[in-house]
Amino acid sequence: MTIEFAVIGGTGLTQIEGLEVIHREVVHTPYGEPSGPITHGMIEGRRIVFLARHGYTHNIPPHKINYRANLWALKSLHVEKVVAIAAVGGITEAMAPTRLAIPDQLIDYTYGRSHTYFEEGLTHVTHIDFSRPYCEDMRTALLAAAECAGLDVVPRGVYAVTQGPRLETAAEIARLERDGCDLVGMTAMPEASLARELDLCYASCAVIANWAAGKGDDEITMEDIQKNLLVGMASARALLRALAC
Ligand code: HPA
Repeated sequence: MTIEFAVIGGTGLTQIEGLEVIHREVVHTPYGEPSGPITHGMIEGRRIVFLARHGYTHNIPPHKINYRANLWALKSLHVEKVVAIAAVGGITEAMAPTRLAIPDQLIDYTYGRSHTYFEEGLTHVTHIDFSRPYCEDMRTALLAAAECAGLDVVPRGVYAVTQGPRLETAAEIARLERDGCDLVGMTAMPEASLARELDLCYASCAVIANWAAGKGDDEITMEDIQKNLLVGMASARALLRALAC
């Protein structure tokens, strides 16, 4: 049975409810070890694989994730489509905590991450087109699934990718807003561009965990983030189940 899609789970999603686990597979790559073994399973009758981006015990911070190994491992299993679930902060009005958003653009503010496969032993310099960083087919599938499941999602948005692991200052968020960003998170890059380098159809479901710095009433607490993620990730799981509907 061919694998229909892969799910990369983020903070708050180290397991998928309703996933019947078939087996776990340790995959080694030329770029080192992925965040953990790949879980093979079935969701609503569809064969999928799952990988917890931060490790199954949530111990790998965003800037230490081996993104190259993660995407390479999925590609080596002949995966063609990837859904990335990511916890984010909301910047613009529609991006309220607990909501889901399917971003259509991003701006990369990260630095020092191993971000390309195209650097060693090249016969020629290679550039990928990244005008539209997310795969439209997968975005459309996610939006259709949301409609099918009756989930409230924001259908587009610009995702600012920051280095972390600290959250941003209020002034940094004000700058991101001036740049045109709607959401802020720490993991979309280099994940999205590595997926493109490997010709994977990759899109993201952002789960809004908090108002970004300076956008809410108060300081951002981990308790609030966790409380909102509990609600948002339940919707993200429903979205994944509905990809079959
Ligand atoms: N900033 C960056 N990453 C995040 C946030 C945030 O406010 N919330 C969840 N991930």
